[in-house]
Amino acid sequence: MTSSDIVKAAGVLRAGGLVALPTETVYGLGANAEDPAAVARVFQVKGRPPTHPLIIHISGAERLGDWVADVPATARLLAERFWPGPLTLVLRRGHRVPLEATGGLETVAVRVPDHPVALALLSEFGGAVAAPSANRFGSVSPTTADHVRAELGDAVDFVLDGGPCTVGVESTIVDATGEAPSILRPGGVTREDLEAVLGMPVADGSTSRVRVPGQHPSHYAPAAKVVLVEPEKIVVEAELAQDQGHRVGVFLPPTLADAPVKAHAVVALPDSMAAYARGLYGYLRELDQRGCDLIVASLPAERGLGLAIANRLRRAAGPR
Ligand code: TXA
Ligand code: MG
Repeated sequence: MTSSDIVKAAGVLRAGGLVALPTETVYGLGANAEDPAAVARVFQVKGRPPTHPLIIHISGAERLGDWVADVPATARLLAERFWPGPLTLVLRRGHRVPLEATGGLETVAVRVPDHPVALALLSEFGGAVAAPSANRFGSVSPTTADHVRAELGDAVDFVLDGGPCTVGVESTIVDATGEAPSILRPGGVTREDLEAVLGMPVADGSTSRVRVPGQHPSHYAPAAKVVLVEPEKIVVEAELAQDQGHRVGVFLPPTLADAPVKAHAVVALPDSMAAYARGLYGYLRELDQRGCDLIVASLPAERGLGLAIANRLRRAAGPR
């Protein structure tokens, strides 16, 4: 990774190409947000339905007004407090953002990623980069450049390697179109962090007026089937399935760290939720690679980053 890589990547974006870029959450598959043909290629490479809107990445909070029709006071406050960082704001679409990028919506999702490579690219490029996570539709998001290369290969024109992502789950998406923001997708910024800054409770998206396409029950899914059980049943359920002939992978919580478990592969989960979030997608990929056909896990407590982890695990376990 050198400054000439950044210059080259910005050139690829200007020429209508696709650049995989590191962010603090997951790797993104980026295109010039103002180039409808480049944006169309993102959908095509991902195999994503064109009605699923993309997130627009910009270089700083001071540029927000260039991309949205208006900035309500609460949105301004959240942008100033959390950017750069894993928070995406849904606001009314500015005219520079083509409908191709928003899946036809009159709102647009915007964020400033907290990663030196992404920020260098955004300031060198000068515009906005539309980027979904750099994985095929429905599968596990990439948290290293190798994950991107393994999954998308030659379909990407250039991969910027910025090392492993430090947050590991996607950004928190907040509907900030009104004065009472709500969470459309839990992520790297916790509900508690948002409430502390806003001084009011923040609802989840069920109360939001905005439409949220792209929230399928099955998403973030490894090849192996994922089953969620109560924590105290993890060992029993894993061994039962293993005895039935499955190749079982287990997410073993720290409280059970010393439990001997008869399974094909075991991931010993870390103590902290931050480390769990950082590792989550890598663990799912690892168990696939080790040939597991069934993954047994349980949900963490749904507070702090546990809310985002539980959301991803539920959807990894969702009906396919
Ligand atoms: O951390 C992240 O947010 C990563 C990195 C690359 O920035 N990006 C990411 O993008 O997770 P993606 O495409 O995998 O998820 C974007 C989600 C969509 O599925 C959709 O639900 C929501 O953002 N979204 C985008 N625009 C929206 C809008 N105008 N209104 C409501 N939801 C929107
Ligand atoms: Mg995604």
